Amino acid sequence: MLDQIALRAELSDHYDLSPSIEIAETNAHIHARMNRVVSPPDWAIFAPYVAAINKLKAERNAVILAHNYMTPEIYHGIADVVGDSLQLAIEATKVEAEVIVQCGVHFMAETSKILNPAKTVLIPDSEAGCSLAESITAEGIAEMRARYPGAPVVSYVNTTAEVKAASDICCTSSNAAQIVAAQDSDTVIMTPDKYLAQNVAKQVPHKRIVWWDGACIVHERFTARDLRDFREGDPQTRIIAHPECPPDVVAEADFSGSTSGIIDYVERERPTKALLVTECSMATNISDALPEVEFVGPCNMCPYMKKITLENVLWSLHSMQGAVEVDPATAAKARVAVERMIDLSRRQPA
Ligand code: 13P
Ligand code: SF4
Repeated sequence: MLDQIALRAELSDHYDLSPSIEIAETNAHIHARMNRVVSPPDWAIFAPYVAAINKLKAERNAVILAHNYMTPEIYHGIADVVGDSLQLAIEATKVEAEVIVQCGVHFMAETSKILNPAKTVLIPDSEAGCSLAESITAEGIAEMRARYPGAPVVSYVNTTAEVKAASDICCTSSNAAQIVAAQDSDTVIMTPDKYLAQNVAKQVPHKRIVWWDGACIVHERFTARDLRDFREGDPQTRIIAHPECPPDVVAEADFSGSTSGIIDYVERERPTKALLVTECSMATNISDALPEVEFVGPCNMCPYMKKITLENVLWSLHSMQGAVEVDPATAAKARVAVERMIDLSRRQPA
């Protein structure tokens, strides 16, 4: 990968990326999806990138799969599919285009490659990691198996291909309780998110759940105290928390679910005020479609998700660099764990 200066020079040799009111106006229909959160001057900066990416995407026969935590100019401007981890994994299996650009973090790109190995899967920044994925290795899984012999290992998709390959089945935040409940064992090992495991333990009380000591650096920072203060200040506020938050935080919430579960809840309930206890882009991405909802309260930024920018997406498609590779033997084992999860989710909808 070139350094930032060389990369910019190379891009500007091939594309006119200077702010343009003309390109902004030609693409006003795209801006209309994010009018409230992207100002006209910002749109004049983004529009040349959005136009160049959308053109190049067609030339390269590429699709962009984007997570719900992407910034609005990515989420509304260039994504072909948006969703939570489970939805993006399922969509990856259906891609017919030759190239997938994963606007999300590295484990998501790896999951796409595992599920659709014939495709070129590009990640615009290989440093887009995840504190959960970094918290455990395949040796950690072996350690848990030695500590709890015979117990199945349910690993969150926020893990590397090696960890998935060493696990029995994967789960995401939208199906974790369902996957754990379906395990034919009284004891179930959940890795690597201790908070997700503790939240699932409340939903599946007949199982003994043991967990790895990992956490998401974005969600572990919220406190129950913050949420209580908010509710006391305005009892009308609907509090909606991601299950990567600590259990005492989730206990203060009116609803807890995956990122898409959170969006569905707000679209369905349309509360006057909503506090989304999760990453900041969630509220930004849905606020144009839900003008009657006021989004309030603290949110935290994921530094890994925010590594994905219009500039590095354009660079990926231009250079075709940053292809994710997974060792075929590891991928084959990891695919079993991910496909088991997808099959089980389909058989028993949550
Ligand atoms: P979702 O599967 O709910 O989108 O979560 C992914 C993630 O990384 C949340 O922090
Ligand atoms: Fe990982 Fe947390 Fe960022 Fe999601 S929000 S990618 S779990 S660090």
